[in-house]
Amino acid sequence: MLDACMALNVAFGSDNHSGVHPAILTALSDVNEGYTIAYGADQYTEQAVTAMKKVFGKDAEVFFMYNGTATNILGLKAVMNSFQSVLCAETAHLTVHECCGPEQFIGCKLVNIPTPDGKLTVDLVEPYVIGVGDQHMAQPRVISITQATERGTVYRPAEVSRLAEFAHGHDLLLHMDGARLCNAAAFLKRGLADISGKAGVDVLSFGGTKNGMLCGESVVFFNPKHAKEFPFIRKQGMQLASKMRYIAAQFSAFLSDDLWLRNAEHANAMARLLASELRKSGVQVTQKVEANMVFAIIPNECIRTLHKQYYFHRFNERTCEVRLMCSFTTQRDDVLRFVAAIRHCL
Ligand SMILES: Cc1ncc(COP(=O)(O)O)c(C=O)c1O
Repeated sequence: MLDACMALNVAFGSDNHSGVHPAILTALSDVNEGYTIAYGADQYTEQAVTAMKKVFGKDAEVFFMYNGTATNILGLKAVMNSFQSVLCAETAHLTVHECCGPEQFIGCKLVNIPTPDGKLTVDLVEPYVIGVGDQHMAQPRVISITQATERGTVYRPAEVSRLAEFAHGHDLLLHMDGARLCNAAAFLKRGLADISGKAGVDVLSFGGTKNGMLCGESVVFFNPKHAKEFPFIRKQGMQLASKMRYIAAQFSAFLSDDLWLRNAEHANAMARLLASELRKSGVQVTQKVEANMVFAIIPNECIRTLHKQYYFHRFNERTCEVRLMCSFTTQRDDVLRFVAAIRHCL
């Protein structure tokens, strides 16, 4: 099995398949000197929190975490009770790929809303805000959106604001899974806060792992009152890193010299190249290519042949839709070779 995997080209399978950016490795090595106090009470964590506040606003409360699943779940746990519900797209990572973690750790209900492109809108969400005040029914509490979405599309700031206004008007909160917030910001040419907190998001999961970090995610609360109990929730949730300096150092490097932006711009550009080469080869691209993902239809026999050489996700078995991802390490030549292989199969 291992041998088979080693022989496969996995570059287009996920942005998690890429390595760590050299600047991040340097940052890790730079803080690897001597002793420092544990659990985030160190100077490196203070510096990283300051850098995050510079980006997300001085009132933002920031907590570093190990991974994105826990970041989503614990961030939501901080603002919910088990009798409440999260309204999310049926494609949301939260509901598809977190192994009932929200149900287990929050005890809440997830309400899955069908969307054509991974994006929620007020019109899509409104019919699901039901049973408010009825003791027999789960109480809607949070609308959760993913930026960029699991379908590679990107919410415009005005779309986020409309959802935030709707949420707040109905006594709900807006959560954003920003595992790929950088890719969205690069596409929109806007700041990270413009498309999250400033657009009305209450709780943000801000990710770095998919865009060049070794391992590091963060929860950002834009309203400090939501963060009050989070130190306890994070510890109980097993996400309080003892050697926090190593997560903090990564975030500091990620946010300096626009590393996050350069990495995301590159990944997005490679996805655009991939999509345009696929279209030129007669392959149908099924979603707008706005971040670092391409969805395309490839006939089953061709997928089977390609899978002998390349590993990538089949998104929908029935429609032969596949998901191809680029990252900050994707090379132009890799894209051209991959498309040539697809053309050969077709
Ligand atoms: C949109 C989204 N959110 C959250 C996560 C969770 O990240 P992790 O694998 O670090 O738990 C992922 C991972 O693929 C993701 O794609």
